[in-house]
Formats: sequence, structure tokens, C-alpha cells
Amino acid sequence: MTKKTLAFASGSDHKKKEMQMLLSPFGYEVVTPKSLGIPFAPEETETTFVGNSFIKSKELFQLTGIPSFADDSGISVDALGGEPGVFSARYGGPGLSDKERALHLLNQLGENPNRQAHYSCVVTFVDSIHQVSFEGKVEGLIMLDYDTIGPYGFGYDPIFFYPEFGKRFSEVSEEEKNKVSHRKKAMELFLNWFQSIQ
Ligand code: IMP
Repeated sequence: MTKKTLAFASGSDHKKKEMQMLLSPFGYEVVTPKSLGIPFAPEETETTFVGNSFIKSKELFQLTGIPSFADDSGISVDALGGEPGVFSARYGGPGLSDKERALHLLNQLGENPNRQAHYSCVVTFVDSIHQVSFEGKVEGLIMLDYDTIGPYGFGYDPIFFYPEFGKRFSEVSEEEKNKVSHRKKAMELFLNWFQSIQ
């Protein structure tokens, strides 16, 4: 039997590995633009996670003809009107490190008492019949300072406090974070749906 293939619109080897693990039980091999040797850098010109995620999944399906999925994620801070949102990876300007972007966010928020924030992730899937999206969210609070001790996570995790754990995401293992994360929730919704159409 030939192996079924799904294309994942991401340049991240780490994410590809994670997606392969989730999709192996369905008998799917995950390929990416990189593994296919295709140049792929669509401009993310939309202002929503759904819009940007679809730009990637639609473009990859058009290029390959393989059923394609993509994710788009970021952090939204209530007191900043939802910023940085879809601009999370670019917040504060080009060339900054993850830490510098997180410090920029702390700076923008200052001592504002409203620390409410959430991570969002939207997974979209496109083939010749379907164009669907799934969203996962996780609510938390922005701390007043940057954690330099917690060894885990990336991006904004050193400033993101998750009340249910009583810890920052930089203090919880990947395994623990994956039980509650926005990405995991969106992928779970996608996989449930995907299973139902097999
Ligand atoms: P992308 O969806 O891979 O383009 O990620 C968007 C950006 O959102 C990342 O570069 C991070 O800055 C931020 N982000 C998304 N998910 C997380 C997370 O789980 N922890 C920390 N930062 C995240």
C-alpha cells in the first residue's frame, strides 16, 4: 500500500517532527517545502491568524497538489488592544531576538494592572474539496519581568504566566505545556475532524 502524504507549510524542523508524530497513527507521511526541495516563502499579508494560516496552506496546495495544512500563532495582550497578535514574530521590528521582543512587550505594557493575555493558534487545511480552520487558545497573564531561570519554551514563554500551573511557560516541560497549549488544542480539533473524514 502506498503511504498517504500530507504537506505541512512550515520551515520549522521541530514543528515538522511534532506533526509527523501526531499524524503517523493515521498512516500519513508529513512532507514540507524543505523536504520537497520547493522554495516557499509566502508573504503573510493578512491581519488575522486564520487569514495568514490560509495563505500558507492554500499556496502549498496550489504548488504541490498534496492536501496541505498550516499553522499560525501568536500572543495577544488585552491592554495593548490585542497586540502583538499576528505580528508576534516581528514585534518591535526586524532583527530582534526572542528575548528582545519579549522585553519590548514588557516595555509597551509598563505597569498597566491589566496583565491578561492569550496565545492563539489557527490550523488550516486545504485540499480539492475542503478549506477548514481550527483554533486553539490558552489564557494567561503577562509578568512584570523576564524569567532568566526557567529552561523551557521559546518566544514569549519567559513572560507568560499560566495560572492553572502557577508557573510561567518557561518553567514547564514541553510535555507539560503540550497538554494545555494553543497549538495542541488546535491540532486536536484538526485531527478529530480529519479522522472523521477518513
Ligand atoms: P509562528 O506561528 O510559528 O509564525 O509563530 C509566531 C510567533 O508567535 C512566534 O515567533 C513566537 O514569537 C510567538 N509564539 C507562538 N506560539 C508561542 C509559544 O507557544 N510560546 C512562545 N511564543 C509563541
